Amino acid sequence: MIRVRTATVDEVVPLRMTALRAGMPEAASRWTGDLEATTTHFVATDGDRVVGIASVMHRPWPGQGDGPAWQLRGMAVEAALRGTGVGHLLLDAVRAHVAAPLWCNARVSAQGFYEREGWRPIGDVFEIPEAGPHLWMVRA
Ligand SMILES: CC(C)(COP(=O)(O)OP(=O)(O)OC[C@H]1O[C@@H](n2cnc3c(N)ncnc32)[C@H](O)[C@@H]1OP(=O)(O)O)[C@@H](O)C(=O)NCCC(=O)NCCS
Repeated sequence: MIRVRTATVDEVVPLRMTALRAGMPEAASRWTGDLEATTTHFVATDGDRVVGIASVMHRPWPGQGDGPAWQLRGMAVEAALRGTGVGHLLLDAVRAHVAAPLWCNARVSAQGFYEREGWRPIGDVFEIPEAGPHLWMVRA
């Protein structure tokens, strides 16, 4: 059975490394803000195994005008379990924890997932050098 709980940054780093920063050193999966008091990390577990991760942090909207003050980042599910609802469970936990609008840098390949979860894209596609094409997305 999949459960979601808050976690330490050390618990999310291994899946960040395989799912989001493949082939890069561990330092590429440890990000500015990971240890801030307002940052929360989540893991989805299957028994003792971490099968999904997400983090949320207090960060101003980077776009023009007003926007959400909380950023979702580092969202990933173990490859074998993608499409089985783990990502949805993680977003539910994030939404229960931060009852405020969110923004994220979404991989273009994950845009459809976020749209199904009620997010909408804003602006043009841009490149994150170590992670490929992205879009800003927001969830009110
Ligand atoms: C994107 C990701 C986190 C989604 O997690 P997941 O556990 O696979 O998603 P779920 O199973 O909860 O899917 C929820 C819904 O979104 C759909 N969906 C999932 N991934 C999708 C995608 N990439 N494109 C379009 N739809 C997608 C599912 O089919 C499901 O739809 P349904 O409710 O109609 O059945 C996961 O696929 C992943 O880790 N991808 C690789 C890393 C990545 O891109 N992370 C996001 C960085 S911004």
